[in-house]
Amino acid sequence: MKFKKQIYGMKAYQPGKPIEEVQREFGLKEVVKLASNENPFGCSPKVKDFIVNNGMNFAIYPDGYAQELRTAVSQHLGVDESQLLFGNGSDDIIAIITRALLYPGVNTVMADPSFSQYSHNAEVEGAEVRKVPLKDGKHDLEKMLEAIDENTSIVWVCNPNNPTGTIVSDEELSSFIEKVPSDVLIVLDEAYFEYITDPAYKDTLHYVEEYPNVLIMRTFSKAYGLAAFRIGYAIGQSKLIAALDPVRAPFNNTALSQKVAIVALEDQQFIQETVEQTEKGKQQYVEFCNKHGLKYYPSQTNFILFEVKADSDVIFQEMMKRGFIIRSGNALGTPGFIRVSIGTEEQNRKFLSLLEEVLKEQGVLA
Ligand SMILES: Cc1ncc(COP(=O)(O)O)c(C=O)c1O
Repeated sequence: MKFKKQIYGMKAYQPGKPIEEVQREFGLKEVVKLASNENPFGCSPKVKDFIVNNGMNFAIYPDGYAQELRTAVSQHLGVDESQLLFGNGSDDIIAIITRALLYPGVNTVMADPSFSQYSHNAEVEGAEVRKVPLKDGKHDLEKMLEAIDENTSIVWVCNPNNPTGTIVSDEELSSFIEKVPSDVLIVLDEAYFEYITDPAYKDTLHYVEEYPNVLIMRTFSKAYGLAAFRIGYAIGQSKLIAALDPVRAPFNNTALSQKVAIVALEDQQFIQETVEQTEKGKQQYVEFCNKHGLKYYPSQTNFILFEVKADSDVIFQEMMKRGFIIRSGNALGTPGFIRVSIGTEEQNRKFLSLLEEVLKEQGVLA
């Protein structure tokens, strides 16, 4: 058959291993997944109440325009309803953007390592991928500017960056945006926006007002704890959103997911508690790294990438045998490091105590 030639040899996205698979494989009763940056505290309890009592008619197609959710998010952010594009997770928004702007002959610029789906989708579209290595775990915006030329269609800024968790400060971002040519789309992926506490990051919504080529992506999958429902969204000027909208699948958010996102958005107390608990949890990892002299990146997210001074795949396997699923740095372009999602206080304590045991076994720690 006549597939696009670039599809041959491409691999599907490799998600963190499912809990049930690890339970079966290692005969474990309890397995904790700290691999996909999900919310260990679940989601707002109001979502669960809604699901039990919603009385919805599941035979009816969802509202393709997500009107109710649109109104709720526009009011929450203080933007016009026409400035929002909803996706089946922000993964879907990435696919919409790349499908709309990328094709053979154009290129797209991104940091390396960063979120894998930017390059993955660009490859599917047959566009050239220009990866600019991180500098000290942070976006090298100077080099990214140099990589942009007249054939560049999209530049991605993952802020905070996955897998390092580092941010681009507002000062750095504003001078970058100013210098990017106005016909290049600048995507600010803020999947972990709610977790940011560093005052060097300042809200980016004003860039959307000032620049027609800036698009912000956010999601309900992380702090809102709704990863299973697949809801992400983009914020841009109305004209940009209208240009992307025809690429979107007609009913790309389910009716139930639209409803629960509204319920979750109303519970900002839950988000605040999630962020506070995550900050405390992150501190447990920072203390562990400091105690053992392991390098880590200052994270503004609900995960942390740190050094294990050993083969990351070995540590990944050893921790899996002990009931914890994490991400090996080998899979993320950061060999010698592991990426761990911040769990509950108890999960973190147990994880770190087992990790200490593994690192001793491996001869990393005395
Ligand atoms: C930086 C970043 N962007 C986007 C996503 C996709 O999130 P979702 O499709 O669940 O909204 C993720 C998920 O891990 C991510 O880390």
